[in-house]
Amino acid sequence: MRKKALIAVVVAALASGAMVADMTMALAQTDIVKERQENRKQTGAAMRAIKGVIDSKGDPKIVVQQAAKMKELEAAFVKMFPPGSDKNTKALPTVWSDSAGFQAASKEADAAYDKLAVAGGSGNFAEITAAFQATGKACGACHQKFRAKENN
Ligand code: HEC
Repeated sequence: MRKKALIAVVVAALASGAMVADMTMALAQTDIVKERQENRKQTGAAMRAIKGVIDSKGDPKIVVQQAAKMKELEAAFVKMFPPGSDKNTKALPTVWSDSAGFQAASKEADAAYDKLAVAGGSGNFAEITAAFQATGKACGACHQKFRAKENN
């Protein structure tokens, strides 16, 4: 009898341990979703900063800096989609089912940031504006396939 009771306690303890592990994982995934949303917010802020430079014919060096920042953010962003982090997110299931397509869309954006940096370096506002618009298209192309619409 005593032995059985002890086994029951051990089994219960193991089960609750597993539950704690599950909850920790769920929490970690909430964090990664928040982290990648925060990453995109910063990307959005970088785009707004560049728009500000264009509108005010400001310092083109800021364009170079912000493009470099977006490259860093993008490199981190694509690694923030572990399996199971598909809850409470605007990321569509296609991120995981078409992982190659997702990575390709990220590479396209990365290439657009490079062009934006080059345009910023040139100091030519026609070039900067064109590269900025191309970058916006690269954002949109990924959102089209891999992000839920705002009103979803
Ligand atoms: C490779 C795909 C991809 C590219 C490129 C991309 N995004 Fe996104 N973006 C996403 C996904 C996926 C989400 C949803 C993330 C989530 O909710 O987990 C998102 C979400 C966002 C959000 C909402 C963040 C929030 O508060 O929830 C903003 C803003 C955003 N992106 C801006 C941009 C801008 C600006 C660019 C281009 C400079 C860009 N994105 C490029 C895939 C991409």
